[in-house]
Amino acid sequence: MSRLLDILGCKYPIIQGPIGATNSPEMVAAISEAGAFGMLAMGFTGNAEEARRLVGGVRELTDKPFGANLMTMNPVNPEILEILAESGIKTVTTSAGSPKHLYPQLHELGMKGLHVMLAFSYAIKAEDAGVDGLIVSGAESGGLRSVNPESSNMILVPLVVDHVKVPVVAAGGIADSRGYRAALALGAEGVQVGTRFLASEESPAPKEWKEAIINCADGNTMLLPLGNMMMRVIVNPKLKEQMSNPETDLAREYNLMNVPEAWGSGNFDLFPAGAGQISALINEIKPVRDIIEEMVS
Ligand SMILES: Cc1cc2nc3c(=O)[nH]c(=O)nc-3n(C[C@H](O)[C@H](O)[C@H](O)COP(=O)(O)O)c2cc1C
Repeated sequence: MSRLLDILGCKYPIIQGPIGATNSPEMVAAISEAGAFGMLAMGFTGNAEEARRLVGGVRELTDKPFGANLMTMNPVNPEILEILAESGIKTVTTSAGSPKHLYPQLHELGMKGLHVMLAFSYAIKAEDAGVDGLIVSGAESGGLRSVNPESSNMILVPLVVDHVKVPVVAAGGIADSRGYRAALALGAEGVQVGTRFLASEESPAPKEWKEAIINCADGNTMLLPLGNMMMRVIVNPKLKEQMSNPETDLAREYNLMNVPEAWGSGNFDLFPAGAGQISALINEIKPVRDIIEEMVS
């Protein structure tokens, strides 16, 4: 068994990429039942009871292992970690910032943690902070990005693998068996998959979001500036028009606070649909089991 599978406790080294506050216990359970590692997105979970409800919802549907993602700056993390440990969760992922303060508690509670990082320098810092594995997320990935120039996984994954001792997971640009095998060839022990699962049958995303991914052509995502961060989004007609006007200040036009309403309803004039560059390769909404089985075939 690989070191990563030992940490995850599932059959295939495939982790469901957490998506903001978009959660469906049914989808997490379906992914775990299909042999991969289902993941609750708790980065924006504002109270411990919500965490208890989400974990309980998955537990009712599967006895297979699953995990939860925490964003490092969430003040409720200590309480959430207690609840996760009580509920038998063995593995979490941490993202968006330095994980140093979370790992002593997490280890004391008997859990393991994989930290998401976007650039090589953070990989070394995270390893020094005691993480049990790294999720290397290249520039092609969906989700929040830094304002710095970034490398794609073809460079970032082997670079990190060459310099750390902990297992490495590749996140970004993986939708099928070709991407999965490429990640393993680069030295990753597994993959984290965001956009492909977002456009699955079980995904709780509104149909407008899934369709935006299916219809996204090559080169039709961009990094939307959000102050000290960027978000990879699908370019829509409103955004295209705004980009053609050099006067437009996109960081003022779009507020992260509008994401729950926009992504919950499919109103992408309010905030564009989040997704990775891999959207160009995704042409069909499929059940998560089919996605996973094709990936490992
Ligand atoms: C819309 C969207 C929201 C995301 N939100 C989070 C999040 O809350 N926490 C996190 O660690 N990663 C987040 N990610 C990153 C994914 O979990 C995953 O690492 C990434 O999507 C991998 O790239 P891919 O989309 O090419 O598969 C998000 C990605 C997308 C597309």
